[in-house]
Amino acid sequence: MSELVLGIESSCDETAAAVVRGGREILSSAVHSQAALHAVYGGVVPEIAGRSHLQKILPVIDQALTQAQVGLDDLGAIAVTTRPGLIGSLLIGLSAAKGLAFTRGLPLVGVHHIEAHVYAATMELADFDYPCLALVVSGGHSSVYRAESPLELRLLGSTLDDAAGEAFDKVAHLLGLGYPGGPAVSKLAAQGDPRAVELPRYRSKSGTGPEFSFSGIKTAVLYAVRGQDAKAPLPPPESIPNRADIAASFEQAVCDVLVDECLRSAEREGLRTILVGGGVACNQRLRREMTARAAARGLRAHFPSPSYCTDNAVMIAGLGWHAWQSGRAAQLDLDASPR
Ligand code: KG4
Ligand code: ZN
Repeated sequence: MSELVLGIESSCDETAAAVVRGGREILSSAVHSQAALHAVYGGVVPEIAGRSHLQKILPVIDQALTQAQVGLDDLGAIAVTTRPGLIGSLLIGLSAAKGLAFTRGLPLVGVHHIEAHVYAATMELADFDYPCLALVVSGGHSSVYRAESPLELRLLGSTLDDAAGEAFDKVAHLLGLGYPGGPAVSKLAAQGDPRAVELPRYRSKSGTGPEFSFSGIKTAVLYAVRGQDAKAPLPPPESIPNRADIAASFEQAVCDVLVDECLRSAEREGLRTILVGGGVACNQRLRREMTARAAARGLRAHFPSPSYCTDNAVMIAGLGWHAWQSGRAAQLDLDASPR
């Protein structure tokens, strides 16, 4: 029986397809990013996302099959993101997956997008042992899980307000940088002093689960940019003298909070390994600091390659293989859910 799984991802603003063998061997990865379509609005517009997925889903699937040099008849199963995400976007990928599964008589498996972000951090490792701690930091999520296996994740804690990526995107707006904000803030931060601007760092109470809050940091950045006068307009970007220092201090504060909370949770749970996934896992400062500070305590942190941190279908095909092998194939009434 074929071990090839076609993965399909359309939960937010990337249309993606990939072919992966046996949950690990990556044969292809095609991603169409809608970032340019949404940039003028400063964030993802659901209606525009849905329409673009509809235009791109079949060409992107074709591209993934061509790149992998396989045809639909070579596949063993089809895996598709069913949750969480924008419902109109999820339904485009799900409908395409159902159509292909039905016409080719292939098993269909639904995949949880967040669980797939965690799994991505294991795909490029030669060997990997569970249990471990998992941090998912993206535009919509900042959550910590205890993972017993690729498919068994228990939520330990998450953010009280913004997701980490959302905070990057909002700070990018305050600093007059474009959307998506994470890469732009990070680039500017590289030229700044991370200790120049004092910003608050939220800490969970000792003995309670990991917990994040980024609204205080964000408000402090607003004050640093505009001053305390709530009626004052945002200054034009070029007139903010210490822009790079603000970006670096912001990035440092977010990294400190993420690393501290994860290390504390890992130690409390008795876990030696930390997996990190989601778009913010591309951040070089986070990669550096999590890795070094974990190592200093005898723990190991693993990050996927940057292209598998942001939304992609490799992680969907990879985790989909495990779901399929453990008998979790679905029927054609498989549904999508925003949560
Ligand atoms: O996982 P992802 O592609 O989509 C969601 O599921 O949300 O994550 C996108 C988020 C955006 O908020 C983006 O600003 C952030 O990841 N991001 C970064 C970096 N690259 C992307 N944040 C900080 N540093 C980066 N280098
Ligand atoms: Zn994501």
